[in-house]
Amino acid sequence: MLERYGHGGDWLTARELYGKQGNEGDFIDFSANMNPFGPPACVGELLRRYESFISRYPDPAVRGLRGKLAERHGVPADCLLVGNGAAELIDLLFRELRPKATVLAEPCFIEYREAAAKIGSAVHAVGLKAELDFRLTMDAALDKLKQLRENGLKSGETLWFLGSPNNPTGQTVERTIVEELLRQGETVAMDEAFMDFAADESGLSLLGEAASREKLIVLRSMTKFYAIPGIRLGYMAAEPSLIRRLSELQVPWSVNSLAQLIGEAVLDDAEYAEQTVAWLRTERAWMTEKLQALGLFVFGSAAVNHILFALPEHFGWTSERLQAALGPKGLLIRDASRFIGLDNRYVRIAVRLRPDNEALLEQLRELFEGRGERG
Ligand SMILES: Cc1ncc(COP(=O)(O)O)c(C=O)c1O
Repeated sequence: MLERYGHGGDWLTARELYGKQGNEGDFIDFSANMNPFGPPACVGELLRRYESFISRYPDPAVRGLRGKLAERHGVPADCLLVGNGAAELIDLLFRELRPKATVLAEPCFIEYREAAAKIGSAVHAVGLKAELDFRLTMDAALDKLKQLRENGLKSGETLWFLGSPNNPTGQTVERTIVEELLRQGETVAMDEAFMDFAADESGLSLLGEAASREKLIVLRSMTKFYAIPGIRLGYMAAEPSLIRRLSELQVPWSVNSLAQLIGEAVLDDAEYAEQTVAWLRTERAWMTEKLQALGLFVFGSAAVNHILFALPEHFGWTSERLQAALGPKGLLIRDASRFIGLDNRYVRIAVRLRPDNEALLEQLRELFEGRGERG
């Protein structure tokens, strides 16, 4: 199992499983959703100059990067908290709010459930349905709210933690649903880790509103869009008193100086952002069409750089076997059956650059036609 630690992008486990020894180039990684262009050029430049910064402590208040993010999103800097990846902020939010109950729309990123478990918050899942393209509907949200009230949970005792766009389904959450939950006194955290990939986030993101609305929190990651997961960088927007409490709970200097400098530099690279969005629009549509032509059921929206697909039963393949057949060929995919709410027909892949995508399609074609190892 490639997802030994719950996530994609695990090179060491891949080497152990598939017997490869060399460097990262041994594998083409479709299992983690990273921007395939690699980090913007300014990152290499900063790494070379980093020695001169390392003997100083990082700014504990992350003022430079917070200021830039505030400008970018048009919100006050005291509504923002920067973290050691969005993963740190998810954990921090649960530890501060300590909700009695947590509502998740599953399948979703596994860390929401893990963070809830760590503080003993009871998870109430809304099961997203494949026949609805895994969209969260108003009816499903209101039904869950009714159930919570019937279980004696009052408004303010529950945290709704929703991915938008959601991993692995790619769907965004309709604003009207969030509005209704807030109107009914619920606390809502939106994980917008993949939002930068959307061609136009203005109608989709709630970040601007989170700065001024009590009980609405928005999280963002910088690791996927800028291909810097090893650096760890994310941020969160919420009203200032919650941001203050969260920053008091955060480990001092949690965001190292390299991450802060890189965060500031990549935000200035408008060309990289434009290139990424333009590439994704074309490549995702192309890849979707090719996967469908292979007979696969493809899910998701144009707002994300990953694709969830289902294997038709008559193919005779499971996601686990497909992963195991592709690994030794140097191709890593995500066995999506590890997400709660999906089964062994589901696979998630990142959209990569054309030659990599072609290599994956070629191998899939061979396997499905029975020329590779049988499933
Ligand atoms: C939906 C979602 N949120 C948050 C994260 C964590 O992001 P980061 O690398 O910034 O900690 C991930 C990572 O895969 C993710 O998929």
